[in-house]
Amino acid sequence: MLLIQSGTVVNADKTIKADILVSGEHITAVEPGIDPPEGTEIINAEGKLILPGGVDPHTHFDLPMFDTVSSDDHYSGHKAAAFGGTTTVMDFVPQPDEGSLADGVAEWHAKADPKAAVDFGFHMNITRLDAATQAVIPRLLDLGISTLKVFMAYNRRLRLQDGEIFRVLQTAGANGMLTMLHAENGDVIDILVADALAAGHTSQDWHGKTRPAWGAVDAVLRGAALAAQADAPLYIVHMNTAGGADQLHYARQRGVRVMGETCPQYLFFTEEHLARPDGAKWVCSPPMRTAADNAALWEALKQNEMQVVGTDHCPFFFDGTTPIEFEGRQVAIPGKELGAADFTKIPNGLPAVGDRLPVLWTYGVGRGYITANQFAALTSANPAKIFGLYPRKGVIQPGADADIVIWDPERSLTYGLAHSRHRTDYNLFEGMELKGFPEKVFLRGRLIVDGETWLGGAGMGQFLRRGTDWQEL
Ligand code: URP
Ligand code: ZN
Ligand code: ZN
Repeated sequence: MLLIQSGTVVNADKTIKADILVSGEHITAVEPGIDPPEGTEIINAEGKLILPGGVDPHTHFDLPMFDTVSSDDHYSGHKAAAFGGTTTVMDFVPQPDEGSLADGVAEWHAKADPKAAVDFGFHMNITRLDAATQAVIPRLLDLGISTLKVFMAYNRRLRLQDGEIFRVLQTAGANGMLTMLHAENGDVIDILVADALAAGHTSQDWHGKTRPAWGAVDAVLRGAALAAQADAPLYIVHMNTAGGADQLHYARQRGVRVMGETCPQYLFFTEEHLARPDGAKWVCSPPMRTAADNAALWEALKQNEMQVVGTDHCPFFFDGTTPIEFEGRQVAIPGKELGAADFTKIPNGLPAVGDRLPVLWTYGVGRGYITANQFAALTSANPAKIFGLYPRKGVIQPGADADIVIWDPERSLTYGLAHSRHRTDYNLFEGMELKGFPEKVFLRGRLIVDGETWLGGAGMGQFLRRGTDWQEL
C-alpha cells in the first residue's frame, strides 16, 4: 500500500486537502487524516498538488508519413508523455491500403503493445469508405475501439467526401461510437498548392498560405452541420482558428452534439513562426494562424466552450541528417529537411506530448486565465469522459486507477529540448520560462517518474478497451 499524505488534490470539480491511499493499481481512499495500515509506504506531498494523470487523446507514434516516420515510437513517446505528467495516450490507427480495419488494428497492436510505457487506446482512421468498410465499423467495438477519425483534407490520401463523412457519422451514431473530424477544406488547399508550386513558391511559409483559415472555419461549420443532420455526436480535433471556435459555439448553442479540441501549438504560435528560417519546425496541419486566433482559443478554453487540450504529437527531426544522442545511442530519422525544396514534402507534425501540461499550467493557471480545476478538466477528466475512460482515468477518487501526478507548482526553469525528452532535435517551447512541473508520476500505483529518474519500462502500458459508455460534454 501507498499513502500520499497532505497534498492538495485537484480534480475537475473541486480541490481538497486530503491524503490518498493506494492499494495495488487503484485508489482506495481520498480523505484527510488517513491512518495508514502497517507497512504502508508514505510519501509526504505537503505543498504539492495532486493531479489526475494527464490523458492526451491525440498522438501519432511511429506514423509513416511521406518518406519517413514520426520520430517517437510507442516507447520513446510514452516515456516523454510520462515525464510531462501524461499517463494515458490515444493513437490513430491508419486504415490499411489493403486489408480490413481489423488488420490495421492488429498492425498497430504489434507496434504498440511491446513498447507501451503508459496506458493507451486507439482511434481508427476511416480514409476509404467502401461498403465492406462501412459494414465492419461497428465491429471495431469488439476490438475496444469506439472512435473514428475522418478528414476533410489531404485529398487523394486521407480525405472523405462530405456524403461519406455523413455516412460515417450516421453509422457511428447508430452504434454508440464517436466521430472525430480533421476540419480543413481539401479542395481549396489542392488548388492553392498547385498555384503556389506553379508560381515557384516552395518555401515552408507557403504551407500556411495554401491552407487558409477560412477553410477551417468552413469545415468546422460543415462538420457540425453534418453531425446535426445525422443526429450524431462529433469531436473536432486540433482546432486552430477563432472562426472555428465561433462556429463551435454557434453549433453548440443550437444543440448540435459537437465538441472541440485544441492543442498547445495553436495557443502560442502564429504564421510568423512558419516564416522563420527554421519555420519547418512549425509545419503541421492545420497550421498556426494569428495572435488573435491564439487569444480566441484561450478564451474558448476559459469559457469552457472548448472541451479538450490534446497535442496532436507527431514529431519529426528538423534536421534528420544529423544524429542526436538519445538514450545513449546516436539517432537520426529523416524529417523536415525532406521538404527543403518543396513545402508540400515537409512531414506534417510536431512534438508536444511532454510539453502539454507544463505550458498549459504556466500560461493558463499561472497567469490566472483558467483555474487549476479547469486545467484538470481540459487535460484529463474531459478527454477521459469523452473517450470512455472515466472514472477509471481522469479523476483522483476511490476506485480509479492510481494514475497520479504529484505536481510541484513552484518548480520553475527555462524550458526546452533538454527537458522535453521527445525523440527529436528541437522543442517549440525552447527558452520559455515555465513554472509548475510533475515531480512524481504514478501509473496504476507504480512510480514511473521520480524527478529526473525513469522507473517505467516498455510493455508496462495497458491497452484500454473502450465501448459505448462515454459522455458527450
Ligand atoms: O500535421 C499533423 N497534424 N499531422 C498529424 C496528422 C493529423 O492530421 O492529425
Ligand atoms: Zn488531423
Ligand atoms: Zn493528428
